Amino acid sequence: MVIIFIFGGTGDLAQRKLLPALFNLYLDGHLPEQFYIAGLSRNKMTPAAYRDLIKKGIDEHARRNEALKEHWEDFSKHVDYLQVDATKEQGYKAMVKKVAALEGEWKAPATIMYYLSVAPQLAPTIAELLCKNGLANDAQRHRLVFEKPFGHDLQSAKELNVLLRKYFAEEQIFRIDHFLGKETVQNILALRFANALFEPIWNHRYVDHIQISATETVGVLDRGAYYEGAGALRDMVQNHMLQLLCMVAMEAPVSFDANEVRNKKHDVLKAIRRYRREEVHSHAVRGQYASGWVEGKKMQTYREEKSVDPHSGVETYAAVKLFVDNWRWNGVPFYIRTGKSLAEKTTHIAIQFKNAPSYAFPPEATDTWRPNRLLINISPQLDIRLRFQAKQPGPHMALQPVDMVFNYFNNTSETQPEAYETLLQDVIEGNATLFMRADQVEAAWAIIDPIMEVWGNKPPVDFPNYAAGSWGPEDAEALIARDGNHWATLP
Ligand code: BG6
Repeated sequence: MVIIFIFGGTGDLAQRKLLPALFNLYLDGHLPEQFYIAGLSRNKMTPAAYRDLIKKGIDEHARRNEALKEHWEDFSKHVDYLQVDATKEQGYKAMVKKVAALEGEWKAPATIMYYLSVAPQLAPTIAELLCKNGLANDAQRHRLVFEKPFGHDLQSAKELNVLLRKYFAEEQIFRIDHFLGKETVQNILALRFANALFEPIWNHRYVDHIQISATETVGVLDRGAYYEGAGALRDMVQNHMLQLLCMVAMEAPVSFDANEVRNKKHDVLKAIRRYRREEVHSHAVRGQYASGWVEGKKMQTYREEKSVDPHSGVETYAAVKLFVDNWRWNGVPFYIRTGKSLAEKTTHIAIQFKNAPSYAFPPEATDTWRPNRLLINISPQLDIRLRFQAKQPGPHMALQPVDMVFNYFNNTSETQPEAYETLLQDVIEGNATLFMRADQVEAAWAIIDPIMEVWGNKPPVDFPNYAAGSWGPEDAEALIARDGNHWATLP
């Protein structure tokens, strides 16, 4: 039995992600027989009008929208709307009543999820009012789901965590990082820890460097107001990119217990080198997009986007070179880059291995030689490619690089579950493995705080410094080229 209250129930996230994910879970039989979903917002709206609104969202965004016709009637019986002003106590009383009525009908206490899809500054008030009205006091059943941003720097994240923990125990708080719900991201653990093959070479003795890229073709769309307060470092690096780094760099967990996995990730974050102010310039690059063409479409410059300051110094691109200072990764650079309005949408991790100790082949045989590389494509391509040298067919010994490819969804009959499906199901089941613990969030801020501080103190003079449709600023090429490397190109 589960009750799901979505604060911000009429918002974009609810329509595009949450309700479509819940609909898919319902179709796949992953919701309990008795469930109730209520969208909450302060607007006046009838439950019928709310159902119409989300039906449209499901139709447009659900993985299995073709099933809408047949299953909508039954699913929609579980969907309701409550007019709740999150800052006023009155609405919470209505929620208490609703819970009592449902539990009376179901004759058992339910698991209750409060999904905060609202401005982050409302979170402490909501947590306090839930608590005050007896809606938060059962650590086993009452769960608070929290969307990023978790603060805007280390100090504010610490304060937020202290505030939330006044009302909810840590195990009741589910901080979402939607990247962790992606199938291809979870598969990193399977690849690393379900195979004997990779772990022996997964260290500084064999790995030359690691690249983590999340490039996007879209600009900031209509999120200019949010993005002006964030920038690429806060929006992507502090959370998604560092979480990917943790998946690649963590030690083997002894079990898949939520805290065990999160302890191992926390260890990685603690080991990442904090830069002194004077080191930031040589390890981090920022950029902002100018106009240009992306996939045949003319893009405007960032400073012309809606709700963006025409003189904005906010970065829409960030590249950072990091080191994980522990035994396994000693001296191995981790290059991270992310940006908007770039040439291609791709999220991938490239593990580049060191050269073989010596080559007996004649020089002409190795003209096209490339180092071994394991490329983990996370999206939109969903595969893993191992590059190695093979003999070119023919009478002479000549080498060519080839790829051995595992295509994630060609090899299964399943369609890919959305990240939010996995994560919502985990919340319902009380499994926090894929969610960020308070200490992880804080450790991640501690890594990027010095970079933000240096960038904040010294406004960029060269913005905008990359054309939309390019691969980002030239300095980002230089950052990696200085070490004799280059950003991975996809096959
Ligand atoms: C979000 C960021 O968390 O992730 C967005 O706020 C970004 O700016 C998005 O576009 C990327 O997610 P995905 O799943 O499309 O790669």
